[in-house]
Amino acid sequence: MSIYINNENKENILKKITQIDVSAKTPTDETERQYYFMAKARKHVQALSEELGRTPTCCVTTFGCQMNARDSEKLVGILEVVGYEIVDTEKADFVIFNTCTVRDNANQRVYGRLGELKSLKKKNPAMKIALCGCMMQEPSVVEKIKTSYRFVDLIFGTHNIFKFAELLNATFEQKRVVIDIWKDTDQIVEDLPIERKYPFKSGTNIMFGCNNFCSYCIVPYVRGRERSRKPEDIVAEIKDLVADGVVEIMLLGQNVNSYGKNLETPMSFAELLQEIEKIEGLERIRFMTSHPKDLSDELIEVMAKSKKICKHLHLPLQSGSSRILKIMNRRYTKEQYLELAAKIRKAIPDIALTTDIIVGFPGETYEDVLETIDVIKQVKYDNAFTFIYSKRTGTPAAAMENQVPEYVVKKHFDMVLNTVQEISREQVKRYEGEIQDVLVEELNEHEEGFVTGRLSNNTLVHFKGEPGLIGKIVKVKLNKCQGFYYMGEQV
Ligand code: SAH
Ligand code: SF4
Ligand code: F3S
Repeated sequence: MSIYINNENKENILKKITQIDVSAKTPTDETERQYYFMAKARKHVQALSEELGRTPTCCVTTFGCQMNARDSEKLVGILEVVGYEIVDTEKADFVIFNTCTVRDNANQRVYGRLGELKSLKKKNPAMKIALCGCMMQEPSVVEKIKTSYRFVDLIFGTHNIFKFAELLNATFEQKRVVIDIWKDTDQIVEDLPIERKYPFKSGTNIMFGCNNFCSYCIVPYVRGRERSRKPEDIVAEIKDLVADGVVEIMLLGQNVNSYGKNLETPMSFAELLQEIEKIEGLERIRFMTSHPKDLSDELIEVMAKSKKICKHLHLPLQSGSSRILKIMNRRYTKEQYLELAAKIRKAIPDIALTTDIIVGFPGETYEDVLETIDVIKQVKYDNAFTFIYSKRTGTPAAAMENQVPEYVVKKHFDMVLNTVQEISREQVKRYEGEIQDVLVEELNEHEEGFVTGRLSNNTLVHFKGEPGLIGKIVKVKLNKCQGFYYMGEQV
């Protein structure tokens, strides 16, 4: 389980750390070992603080998905414990980029921002720069950084993130760049401190890695093989979160529907959900992502009966063409997907379905795109994230010869996007005039005196409200749908 930092236990964590004898031998138990390095790093940060005459600042920037964001919370937890002040600006004494490599534009953003860091470091020579996350699992990236971005102090990957305290400490004790990348791991290290971004909602990893090897996707190469956390660790962690004010939990995994298959005592995802449902005080359960090939009838049944599982399912389609799906190695056909979507709608009529679509996969023709458009029209998604295919070195699709020319992809992309927008506008609107529960998440960015929250089905709602409502579930009348969100009023 994880230890969430709050005012109460922060003191306990710090007490534990100040009691550690850093002149003793390094502990062998992995968790103890990392606490030992937190104690050591804390001394270095204290020394730095005296040198600077102020608390050193630190900024963690997340480039990727929810799992990447969750990893950032783990980094922040440790940074806080060792004595950094967490800030939002990259004009800080320590900047960490937690990178993503799912599409090339994610990589390009990192290189661009690294250029900016270089000039910041010139002004603040004591500044430390670290890179971690999925991009660092690619040897060619690490080579490029070693030769062209020599001002970087620390590089580590996704498999050894639990070693962050140790690596951070090494940046203080070693003059040269610290590089530690693992190819894979089956280790899951529990009980390290985590800082949460929101007080009222949180993500929780239920599994790591992916075994699916969709032919376009780099995730299995950079995140390693699938491994599930023990249900008792997950449940204990959520109970702890709830005791600390969390009302909504998002269960995270690349393919949650295959949860538990490799546990000593196997357990299905539907069974895990039922255990989580029992947690008193927890109001909403979400999860991400579901692979259509593994979505069981048992899960649909559990979702239909549940009072806490949100009325939203993200079910990535990728393509509506059975021919392309086969080459993508998705292991379902257009017909199977449509059947599944129909079954879900029948069991849970008020569910919102959302999806991911790739346009421009090698060999994709106009006819294939029409198939995708047909699925969008039949399934009626509330939202669909549409991506242009990005060639990822090392994946089977990258070696395919029939890559689609850019101008064709662009045309197809616009066709798909237009259909998605047309359909989802109609879909989202279907609750206009109704009263629904909204979990208030934040102050409205654009209009003073307004707050923003989410329906169970994940649609955003803006309405007049006090900051005190944040984190509460309130009844809101959905007055007017404005495309992808509602304007409402609290009732
Ligand atoms: N595990 C999740 C997806 C994780 S990646 C799942 O299978 O649903 C998130 C999305 O990025 C994918 O659903 C896919 O639509 C998109 N994606 C992955 N690789 C891509 C690539 N090479 N080019 C374009 N989009 C890609
Ligand atoms: Fe990538 Fe497919 Fe795994 Fe999702 S299921 S992470 S798309 S390989
Ligand atoms: Fe990106 Fe890694 Fe997530 S590649 S999408 S950050 S798992």
